[in-house]
Amino acid sequence: MRDVSVVDVARGEEDEEPRVDDLLLQAEEEVAEQAGVPAPTGPQIAAPRLAGEHDTVAILDFGSQYTQLIARRVRELGVYCELLPHDAPVSEVEKLRPSAYILSGGPASVYAEGAPQLPHYVITANRPILGICYGMQLLTHAHGGRVEPSDHHEYGPARIRRTSDNPLFAGLEGELAVWMSHADRVTELPAGFEVLASSSNAPVAAIGRGTTIGVQFHPEVMHTPQGKEMLSNFLFNVAGLRATWSASSFIEGAIEQIRAAVGEGRVLCGLSGGVDSSVAAALVHRAIGDRLVCLFVNNGLLRQGEAEEVVETFGRNMHMNLHAVDASDRFLSALEGVSDPEEKRKRIGNTFIRVFEREALELGHFEFLAQGTVYPDVIESATPERPSAARIKTHHNVGGLPADLRFKLVEPLRYLFKDEVRRVGLELGLPEEIVWRHPFPGPGLAVRVLGPITHERLETLRLADAIVRHEVHQGGLWRDIWQVFAVLLPVQSVGVMGDNRTYADVVAVRAVTSVDGMTADWAKLPYDMLGRISNRIVNEVPRVNRVVYDITSKPPATIEWE
Ligand code: XMP
Repeated sequence: MRDVSVVDVARGEEDEEPRVDDLLLQAEEEVAEQAGVPAPTGPQIAAPRLAGEHDTVAILDFGSQYTQLIARRVRELGVYCELLPHDAPVSEVEKLRPSAYILSGGPASVYAEGAPQLPHYVITANRPILGICYGMQLLTHAHGGRVEPSDHHEYGPARIRRTSDNPLFAGLEGELAVWMSHADRVTELPAGFEVLASSSNAPVAAIGRGTTIGVQFHPEVMHTPQGKEMLSNFLFNVAGLRATWSASSFIEGAIEQIRAAVGEGRVLCGLSGGVDSSVAAALVHRAIGDRLVCLFVNNGLLRQGEAEEVVETFGRNMHMNLHAVDASDRFLSALEGVSDPEEKRKRIGNTFIRVFEREALELGHFEFLAQGTVYPDVIESATPERPSAARIKTHHNVGGLPADLRFKLVEPLRYLFKDEVRRVGLELGLPEEIVWRHPFPGPGLAVRVLGPITHERLETLRLADAIVRHEVHQGGLWRDIWQVFAVLLPVQSVGVMGDNRTYADVVAVRAVTSVDGMTADWAKLPYDMLGRISNRIVNEVPRVNRVVYDITSKPPATIEWE
């Protein structure tokens, strides 16, 4: 397992809108400059590792859209793994002490000029290897076999016949349904390899030599129904790894590491009430108790009951050292008369930084800042196809750092996927309402009250939003939905109530399903649920006479309206 990462951050010149991520980027560049190397594609990690505690798989990313899925499947099977760019320095890879390698798919052709090749250390390491799609073609090419363009691009479902009793297929019967997505194919086997399976379009659909396995299909996607069994067979039957990775094993190791990294120091945590910062705070609190101080800034743009819930959960129930500040008036006066969404964001960001700075200074000296950065944020900054995005995305909700303090970052969730973060949160005793919270934008309801923001309009939105959330919870759909919320539109419409004509506000309901927020589908909420939501809003929320449902996906729309 990796350590709790600790990154040195130094504040630079005051700029217009300092953000934690900019500061991190700057810190990375400084470290790189000092070392005389170009800015890295990954974060600078400066802390010991618990290498050897878990059998670890290094997944080398050759640019497939499915690489994160491979990692999630391997973790679900109880094996710790990390994703590394295919051109990661061997020293970085060796820090993991990998017991096995998985080579991802990728868009290139192995024989094309400049195509990513199999790193030499993988060939000489003499450890089990699973090459998936492009990964299998790399193995073939590197061991002297032949890969050629195929007449038929194979994309979509296929069936494979096994031609060997390889342990990769242990427990699986008959022909297997798999998902293919490739243009090239293996036409000549490298020496010593045998064909393990064939499909009609890919006579060489899987190959093997000892503990080196290649599959042309994608076992990691759900369209390969028995893919998880095949991955499990690779990990346990072929590579002989131990399944020791779990949320609770993570907690024990992380606590030790936080203690070791922080020593006798004090840690400040900007708590937003979202899942990631909440779990990060709970974990750091478990490790160092009252030397963690959580700073919660109520910006007056939160949903109904949220500020109270944060104080109740972290202050009263978990007995954290919580400093809650109500800065609602300050935020609302900064937003007075502003309609432009980007201007709203800018003013909220700036106000947040000023409030955070002032409050943090009053809380004394801190060496560390805890943040809820999660693994997908880190991966997004380090994939081979995005080398220019060499930056760490951090929680938007922590908008900046106090100007004259110098922090090291403690990021205990840096190597966890969201579902793992949730499991850790539950094990640490956080309430389900917090652990299962939907993502919520840093600027909060300000980007859901379209047009100018007033106390009254915020209150209208809060009431409508609470009804939407309540009904989706009651209907048992909460966890199937990525985000669901109400939006207050800047238009009025004509209605009739009793015998009177009304001219009042319109509320839009937005519900989407998504895996990462990058793309999203509008959720097909049942009509009776939509009916109840609409009925309750027009009856219970003053000044609203019409409810509409947003049926656009992303793209072309975005999830938020502003
Ligand atoms: P969009 O609207 O771009 O949103 O499809 C994608 C995801 O990002 C969230 N979002 C934000 N989060 N600050 C944030 O912290 C922002 O300014 C912001 N704008 C959008 C949005 O809720 C969704 O989860």
